[in-house]
Amino acid sequence: MLIDTHCHLSREYYDDIDKVISDDKVSKVNKIVVSGCSKSDIEEVLQLKDKYEIIYVTLGYHPEYALEVTKKDLEDLKKKLNNSKVVGVGEIGLDYYYTKDNKEKQKWLFEEQLKIAVELNLPVVIHSRDATLDTIEILKKYNLRGIIHCFSGSLESANIYIKMGYFLGIGGVVTFKNSKLKDVVSKISLDNIVLETDSPYLAPVPYRGKINSSKYLNIIAKYIASLKNVSEYEVAKITSDNASSLFDFK
Ligand code: NI
Repeated sequence: MLIDTHCHLSREYYDDIDKVISDDKVSKVNKIVVSGCSKSDIEEVLQLKDKYEIIYVTLGYHPEYALEVTKKDLEDLKKKLNNSKVVGVGEIGLDYYYTKDNKEKQKWLFEEQLKIAVELNLPVVIHSRDATLDTIEILKKYNLRGIIHCFSGSLESANIYIKMGYFLGIGGVVTFKNSKLKDVVSKISLDNIVLETDSPYLAPVPYRGKINSSKYLNIIAKYIASLKNVSEYEVAKITSDNASSLFDFK
C-alpha cells in the first residue's frame, strides 16, 4: 500500500524495467509516480504509463533546461498534460546549486509552468535547490497544491510550505547518517508528508550510493516510523492517503 510519489524510471538507468516493476509490487508499492522532466523523458514516461498499470506520471521541465525550453515546447507540454494517468506538473522549480547565472530564465520557466498547472487544475511537484526564498515567493503568487520534492530544508521552511498547503516529499536522505532532516521529520505531522524515492538517485541506507528503486520505499517508511514512534502501517496508510488526496489516480 505504499505510493512512490517521485522517481525517474527510465531505460537510461535500468536495463530491465519489467523486473523493476515486479520487484516494486513484491515490496508492496502499489503506485509509482514517474517524473518526466526533459524532452526525451516525457516521451518515454508517456509510454510507460500505458504499459504498466502501476505507473502514473507528472510532466514538466526541470530548471536545468531553462535555457533550452521554448514557448512552443510549453504549448506541446500543455497538450501532453491533458492525458489519462498524467496527474501533475513536475518536476519544476529553481536550482541555484549549479548556476545562478540564468536565474531570470529559470524563474520564467517555473512561472510559465505554474500558470499551466492553474489552467489545467493540476497539482505541482516542486524542485528547489539552494533557492528556498525565491521558490516561496513565487509559489505564494499561485493558489496551487503540490509536493516539495526531496525536501531538505529547515523546520521553519517546512512550516511555511505546509501552511501554503504543500506536502513535503521525504525520501532516502532522511536515513543518511548526518541528515538534519531526521529532526525536521520528527517534528512535523505525518499528515504533511508523502514518500518518494527519487530513484535512481538517493538510495536509503544501507544502499546509499547504489542504484535506487521504488522497492526501497519500505525502508524509508520503516525509518520514519521509528523516528515518529508509530507503526510502519500507519506511515504507509497516512502518506498514501495524502498522495491519493493530491493526485487524481484513476
Ligand atoms: Ni527528481
